Amino acid sequence: MASLLTPDRGALLQALDTVTDPLTGLGLQAAGRVTKLELGFGRAAVRLEAPPEADPRYATLPEAVERALRSVPGVHRAHVVMAPQARPPTAEQPTVRVRKGARLSSEAQDQTRFARGAAQPIAHVRRVVAVASGKGGVGKSTVAVNLACALAALGFRVGVADADVYGPSLPRMLGLDADPEIGPDKKLIPVPAWGVWVMSIGFMVDEGAPMIWRGPMASSAVNQILHETAWGSEDEPLDVLLVDLPPGTGDVQLTLVQKVELAGAVIVSTPQEIALIDARRAAAMFGKTGVPILGVVENMAFLPDPAGGAPIEIFGRGGARREAERLRVPFLGEIPIDPALRAGADAGRPLVATDPNSPTAQAFMEVARRVTGRT
Ligand SMILES: Nc1ncnc2c1ncn2[C@@H]1O[C@H](COP(=O)(O)OP(=O)(O)O)[C@@H](O)[C@H]1O
Ligand SMILES: [Mg+2]
Repeated sequence: MASLLTPDRGALLQALDTVTDPLTGLGLQAAGRVTKLELGFGRAAVRLEAPPEADPRYATLPEAVERALRSVPGVHRAHVVMAPQARPPTAEQPTVRVRKGARLSSEAQDQTRFARGAAQPIAHVRRVVAVASGKGGVGKSTVAVNLACALAALGFRVGVADADVYGPSLPRMLGLDADPEIGPDKKLIPVPAWGVWVMSIGFMVDEGAPMIWRGPMASSAVNQILHETAWGSEDEPLDVLLVDLPPGTGDVQLTLVQKVELAGAVIVSTPQEIALIDARRAAAMFGKTGVPILGVVENMAFLPDPAGGAPIEIFGRGGARREAERLRVPFLGEIPIDPALRAGADAGRPLVATDPNSPTAQAFMEVARRVTGRT
């Protein structure tokens, strides 16, 4: 399988020559159409120069080039920009075409993927735990990060994998700007932060770059984050690897349940019905595939009244607790709305690690104890 290494420049130039320049009949590289080739971790960006006169034969070129680039091992995202040779673009005739890596696939719905026959353990990891939600923005990444720190504080060896390939948050939330190294066995070396080991697709792309993947590419990226990262070692295996999932029940989640032997899933939800509906869907997906639900965390359960009065229940406290009862799974605890938690996330300083005695950090410690049965 291809890996997320920096692709080989020579192989890319060769691939560019497999696409014919319409005007000269030569390969694109040979015809001098390639004015820039940039390589990154798992990606290639190419700038092409089209002839100054509009020529319809060039319209489909970026697509063909993108295909050729992605046929090279190690290229998961191809970015093709085509600009005409020195002539200003006009309004009626846009002359700069930008094609990004991909579009979402419709292949995702194949129900047969629910089969878990191929699920593999991850080398040197004792338990893989998915952190999932139905909706985005409910605090899944926040919970994954702080729960990881809480588990580390309990003495476990912990990893956290960012499988949210559409919106990786872990580099920002953990204050990391790393370019992970490749070990002797060609596996990515996870990056240490705040007592836990981290790997994220966000290390490989710019924070502002759009994350547009075809379904199979997203799944393959997740597979590499999980299976082609040197989590733990023979002597010091990880006790637990938390996997921060993208919201919903799409390709990535299916890949995870299909390809990875999961010890269970933690469902994060805010208390209001509109979030619970989607949390229920996520729970059903794990249920269907035989992955145990370790429990439900109610995030943003309430706002402690700053004046010391009654808590303000912005989203209607208790919804996730009731949902856990309905699903007959453990309720793992409630996390209050805490501006310090948000500020810590934005600043790359997880609250559980920086202010372990705060009530919110203690709430995470409680969740960690319940998840591991250390109550
Ligand atoms: N309990 C909380 N109190 C205050 N802010 C929170 C809380 N949980 C999450 N947030 C903030 O809400 C936003 C969304 O959280 P995030 O963890 O990125 O959600 P998700 O991963 O589900 O999309 C972030 O800015 C985060 O800092
Ligand atoms: Mg997230």
